Amino acid sequence: MPKKIMLIIGARPNFIKAAPLMRELSAHTEKFDPFLIHTGQHYDHNLSQLFFEQLKMPQPDIYLGVGSGSHARQTAKIMTGLEEEFEKNRPDLVIVFGDVNSTLAASIVTSKMCLKLAHVEAGLRSFDNTMPEEINRIVTDRLSDFLFITEKSGSENLHKEGVSEDKVFFVGNIMIDSLVKNLELARESKIIEQLGIKAKEYAVLTLHRPANVDNKDRLDILLKAIGEVSQKLPVIFPCHPRTKNALSKFGFNFESNDNFKIIDPVGYLDFLNLQANARLVLTDSGGIQEETTYLQIPCITIRENTERPITAEVGTNVLAGLEYDKIIKAANNVFNGKHPKGRIPDLWDGHTAQRIIKTLEEIYDKF
Ligand code: UD1
Ligand code: UDP
Repeated sequence: MPKKIMLIIGARPNFIKAAPLMRELSAHTEKFDPFLIHTGQHYDHNLSQLFFEQLKMPQPDIYLGVGSGSHARQTAKIMTGLEEEFEKNRPDLVIVFGDVNSTLAASIVTSKMCLKLAHVEAGLRSFDNTMPEEINRIVTDRLSDFLFITEKSGSENLHKEGVSEDKVFFVGNIMIDSLVKNLELARESKIIEQLGIKAKEYAVLTLHRPANVDNKDRLDILLKAIGEVSQKLPVIFPCHPRTKNALSKFGFNFESNDNFKIIDPVGYLDFLNLQANARLVLTDSGGIQEETTYLQIPCITIRENTERPITAEVGTNVLAGLEYDKIIKAANNVFNGKHPKGRIPDLWDGHTAQRIIKTLEEIYDKF
């Protein structure tokens, strides 16, 4: 009998990470019976459905529709929904991705029901517990039976936390599987013409970390620093709904103009195209630090820490911190050709989903 494998996804970066694994599982139906559950943590068309279409991912078998809410409410709703589903339809293995609330909720329900749990993108640590994702990562890894890591820091972190080495598998970065598969298609995107900009003559900005955007003074400083950068290079800012809400709540009259274009979040193919052709990316995203490293595009991370240290050690990522002067200095380094060039980390090669499947086959062959 094929093993029933349930993939739990809920937020934008989850869709990008799950698509390659879903495709690979579906190519091995003699061994695996994949089942997709979308919690509904993200629900706007351009944060959710658009990614299913562009990544050619099947529609979810179950949509829980939990929507937004406080951490406790959102996590609890996902847990309740998943518990009911797992009772009706008991999986052999639950696979979770990344570090969002859907990941945490699924991990708790899975382990409390004594089901097997696998975590894709395990072991990353920012060592900053004020970041909600760090708590999600720690709990998920503690509960996981199989931990698939993207970079070597993951195995060091897990080893220090006492996770047994035979549960940890270095398989590479599944987000890069999606990038490799879609880059050619993304090059056909017309987003650059539509925005009236030129390749290599603009910067891309994303900001959505609560520590950056939920604090009025911090957001004010960051926007002033980026405003300064925009005097030298037009900045394109696909604005996350959390950030859009914060701008309006704090009463920032942030007018979009030719130098600093604020737009809605864009689809995956448009965003890959924007990154690949950018002179510079400024971000507080996790996944974008990794994608710019693969694409070898200069990335300035507007954070004090990163859970993805390989992007700064060997990639094109520079941690600028949160101060005005440091952000300007980091941008000037790009303009002056002083930004590190970087190389692609080991096993970020487009074959991570295949390695995960191979590992699962080996595990199941033993029983
Ligand atoms: C979540 C993840 C974060 C991830 C990000 C990816 C957690 C704790 N955070 O942050 O790790 O980097 O997704 O983008 O899981 N909203 C909409 N439409 C939507 C979804 C959200 O308008 O489709 C608005 C709501 O006002 C909501 C707010 O955005 O309250 C935040 O959404 P939420 O999913 O709670 O967290 P994100 O900031 O998106
Ligand atoms: N992304 C996108 N459209 C956008 C912004 C980002 O498709 O307008 C993609 C980006 O290419 C990357 C992922 O979303 O694959 C990163 O997600 P996000 O920054 O929301 O979350 P994080 O990685 O910080 O958890």
